[in-house]
Amino acid sequence: MKKVVFICLGNICRSPMAEAIFRDLVKQQNLEAAFTIDSAGTAGWHEGERPHKGTLAKLREHDISTEGMYSRPLTKEDSERFDYFICMDESNVENTRRILGGDKEVLRLLDLTTHTVKEVPDPYYTGDFEETYQLCLEGCTKLLEKLC
Ligand code: 4NP
Repeated sequence: MKKVVFICLGNICRSPMAEAIFRDLVKQQNLEAAFTIDSAGTAGWHEGERPHKGTLAKLREHDISTEGMYSRPLTKEDSERFDYFICMDESNVENTRRILGGDKEVLRLLDLTTHTVKEVPDPYYTGDFEETYQLCLEGCTKLLEKLC
């Protein structure tokens, strides 16, 4: 079982986008039994909320389910629950290391791609959910290749 958690700041825009896309890719390959997939935010400001309406609309456009997804904060206990900590930007990496403690391997999603820019832009500020969708799709595709 491979246990993957996607991490951003608020867990309403980028990491739910990546979680839903990765779930969908895993489902397409009939690999659901081999994975535990979740997402979390380094801040708990939106705890209990559904993903941002821009993320929901973009995923709906691509017929990708967001069922059962609600924002939650990353906690120290996640350190034991997951093996792969996949962040959207460098500040997420720093905050994740601080929250988890220890020496878990923490990656940025775009580290797996050939893009020179390794940070997934935050559509909470840019408003560009299509750009974030495309980058998450590319990163998640590479992540699935890496883990299979
Ligand atoms: P996310 O985006 O980290 O991709 O979920 C944000 C969501 C909420 C806020 C900032 C970024 N906020 O300031 O509430």
